[in-house]
Amino acid sequence: MKKIAILFTLLSAIGTQHVSAQKLSAHSIDSAAVVHTILSRRSVRKYKDAPVRRDQMDMILKCGINAPSGMNAQPWEVRVVDNQQMLKDITEAQMSGMNEEQRKRMTGNGFRNMFRNAPSVVFVAVPEGRGELDAGILGENMVLAAWSMGIGSCFLGGPVRFLNSDERGKAFVKKLGFPDGYRLVYAIGFGYPDESPEAKPRDGEKVKYVE
Ligand SMILES: Cc1cc2nc3c(=O)[nH]c(=O)nc-3n(C[C@H](O)[C@H](O)[C@H](O)COP(=O)(O)O)c2cc1C
Repeated sequence: MKKIAILFTLLSAIGTQHVSAQKLSAHSIDSAAVVHTILSRRSVRKYKDAPVRRDQMDMILKCGINAPSGMNAQPWEVRVVDNQQMLKDITEAQMSGMNEEQRKRMTGNGFRNMFRNAPSVVFVAVPEGRGELDAGILGENMVLAAWSMGIGSCFLGGPVRFLNSDERGKAFVKKLGFPDGYRLVYAIGFGYPDESPEAKPRDGEKVKYVE
């Protein structure tokens, strides 16, 4: 009787493992939903006036750090800023170094901040000289996860040039608290979209099968 019980427990355990592995297998994923998310994503530059809810941002970040990375080194450091005053202060610091012409160019229609008006901004840094590819994949995971939840985003390289090179910008990067030797590589603005941009053209000729 005892032997039968042990056998039953063993079989149940194997069964459970099998079910949980199946649950995680790629074949059970809704491919149409994933493809739709990828193909319908657009960079968004106009947002509703509310930061991304923290529970949603937590899921976006979780998807980010589940990106692949070389030897699973996870070389990134990620900081989230949804403090509107801080985003405003960075914007004012950048604008204080601009002439009238540059200001006008930057502050067009509905301008709110230098992060393409996003109310939540994620900053990503990697160790100097490595990890940029991994960081890029982390970013795309976050952007796609956000889009699947109805949250818009825009990768931002422009503001990073100011933040890394200008003394006023560097003071803000310090506040982000990256470890020594890390360099800010990009930011991503996130928020609830207040526009529906058209798709930008893509050049299919760049892709070729080699026979
Ligand atoms: C590395 C990187 C940096 C970018 N920097 C900026 C930026 O500084 N400002 C901006 O408005 N868009 C920026 N973008 C967004 C691109 O302009 C956008 O992805 C491209 O035009 C294609 O449009 P789509 O994202 O809507 O498909 C950046 C995108 C990437 C990947």
